[in-house]
Amino acid sequence: MRILLTGGAGFIGSHTAVEMAQNGHEIVILDNYSNSDESVLERLEKIIGSPVIFEEGDIRDYDRLYEVMEKHHIEAVVHFAGLKAVGESCAMPIEYFDNNVAGTVTLLRAMKALNIKKLIFSSSATVYGVPQYLPLDEKHPLSSTNPYGRTKLHIEEILRDVAASDPEWSIVCLRYFNPIGAHASGLIGENPRGIPNNLLPYVARVANGQLKAVQVFGSDYETPDGTGVRDYIHVVDLAYGHVCAVNYSANHQGWVAINLGTGIGYSVLDIIRAYEKACGKPIAYQLVDRRPGDVAANWADPKLAKELLGWEAKLSLQDMCESSWKFQQSC
Ligand code: NAD
Ligand code: UFG
Repeated sequence: MRILLTGGAGFIGSHTAVEMAQNGHEIVILDNYSNSDESVLERLEKIIGSPVIFEEGDIRDYDRLYEVMEKHHIEAVVHFAGLKAVGESCAMPIEYFDNNVAGTVTLLRAMKALNIKKLIFSSSATVYGVPQYLPLDEKHPLSSTNPYGRTKLHIEEILRDVAASDPEWSIVCLRYFNPIGAHASGLIGENPRGIPNNLLPYVARVANGQLKAVQVFGSDYETPDGTGVRDYIHVVDLAYGHVCAVNYSANHQGWVAINLGTGIGYSVLDIIRAYEKACGKPIAYQLVDRRPGDVAANWADPKLAKELLGWEAKLSLQDMCESSWKFQQSC
């Protein structure tokens, strides 16, 4: 299929571009580079081995979206573009609702005008709020504790209404758990601007000497070693999940939300140990207070993805840390 990847220059979008191209899809990337840059193009072309179509543009710009999708005869959209920092969303809720929610509505308007009715949306495990039980399956009640999470919840609801309005729509909301790691080539990965908010990029920068020590947020949780537990998933596995979702959308209509996770929880200290093994040196860390808003543990029930998409995560925590380290050394 000819697929538009909004936000395709970013961390998950760039890995998905590779998997899509390697599985026979034609891709067009649209990005405003607010959290990425054009250098990823060259790296993608090196991995894929052929030219990649990049269009600079903003998902809030209807005319630009219409023009790009019409020009490239787009048949399906994978929608990654959005802002994603929880803390920033509390300080800038208007920007988050504008970019994520209004941007998605603009995208839907342009898709509808062009009769493009297949959409895969980047949702998040954040829509489960504070877990009432584990593992988290798709029937778990939804809630959110911050504006970023609310943008994902609102968008899921909007998409559900859109699918209900017209049986031709096929909409898959993929609820990602914690994507980490990098492509095996070491050419693309996660390299956030400034001090990283997320654990893995922080650990990677301690490993290469850019930062001094990992602050472990909380060591008194009710978890096996007292530190927070998450379902870390290799970004390449996650990216392949989008290929499966696009293939699913080719012969299924309606709306569905599907977890993409491994079903395994690792603690912060497990991650630090695995990274030490990957980079061959000790990672300094300090146990500090809990980070406000964090939950003790969450991990996915990944059964629905297997059942509907035939997808399951294959790569190990060690693969995640080794690929991250390989990429980090090239930054
Ligand atoms: P990222 O910031 O690396 O990628 C997002 C891309 O979207 C960037 O290249 C950015 O420049 C672009 N973008 C942002 N606003 C845009 C706009 N208005 N118009 C066009 N392009 C725009 O983030 P990521 O980690 O690759 O996340 C991709 C998606 O997955 C996001 O929607 C995010 O909320 C969601 N998600 C991410 C995680 C995670 O831990 N990384 C977890 C759950 C869900
Ligand atoms: N952590 C630390 N030190 C750090 C950063 C994180 O100890 O410097 C801990 C956190 O307390 C948590 C774990 O590492 O226990 C993971 O934290 P991240 O910030 O990497 O990830 P979160 O689980 O908080 O959230 C991420 C994304 C969200 C997304 C969610 C999906 O940031 O946007 O995964 O489950 F919604």
